[in-house]
Amino acid sequence: MAKVGPKGMKILKLFHLIAAGLWIGGAVALNLMIYALPLPQSDGELYGYNIACKFVDDYVVIPGAIGCLVTGFLICLLTQWGFFKHRWVIIKWFLTVACILFGTFYLSKTVNNQPHISADEGTMALANLDYVSNRLGSLRGGLLQLISMVVMFWLSVCKPLKGRGKGVIPKPEKLDS
Ligand code: HEM
Repeated sequence: MAKVGPKGMKILKLFHLIAAGLWIGGAVALNLMIYALPLPQSDGELYGYNIACKFVDDYVVIPGAIGCLVTGFLICLLTQWGFFKHRWVIIKWFLTVACILFGTFYLSKTVNNQPHISADEGTMALANLDYVSNRLGSLRGGLLQLISMVVMFWLSVCKPLKGRGKGVIPKPEKLDS
């Protein structure tokens, strides 16, 4: 596979960083909305709040996550970084795919179901068991995902565990017994 030059690399990295910024920015906003905003006191406010959370998830968090995956894939395919040459890149693959699966099959549901419940029940939703457990799920899962993203930023910037396998990290010489 032909590789891109320095200019192509810069363009890929630019889009990768925009996507990473969107993902972590959306996740921080969503976490703050769930942790720090005082809970609304009227039916309309509660519904609006739940719709706003869903909006940030659908239009900032999800495009950022997909953008990271696509640009990360292109960087591996089209540059010298490769898919399996470095442990930090492999760990990023694992964490990104795990976060996306967790987000798709668990976290998004905890956000998407809330407007339906608050539209039906108004502020009584705050005592609805499904509503409360969704909120708790968003609180705990959202924090876990944010921590994984901070780890990915650290891996990207510090690039620890560079290289793997024969010829990249020299193996220690065997001691003669
Ligand atoms: C499929 C998953 C991903 C892969 C394969 C991947 C791969 C890479 C590679 C190879 C680089 C090095 C580019 C260079 O310095 O020339 C890079 C840079 C970077 N990535 Fe990712 N990435 C992925 C997901 C993410 C995610 C989810 C985030 C953040 C949430 C992220 C944040 C960054 C940052 C901040 C840099 C710039 C580091 C620097 O320039 O020092 N990446 N990525």
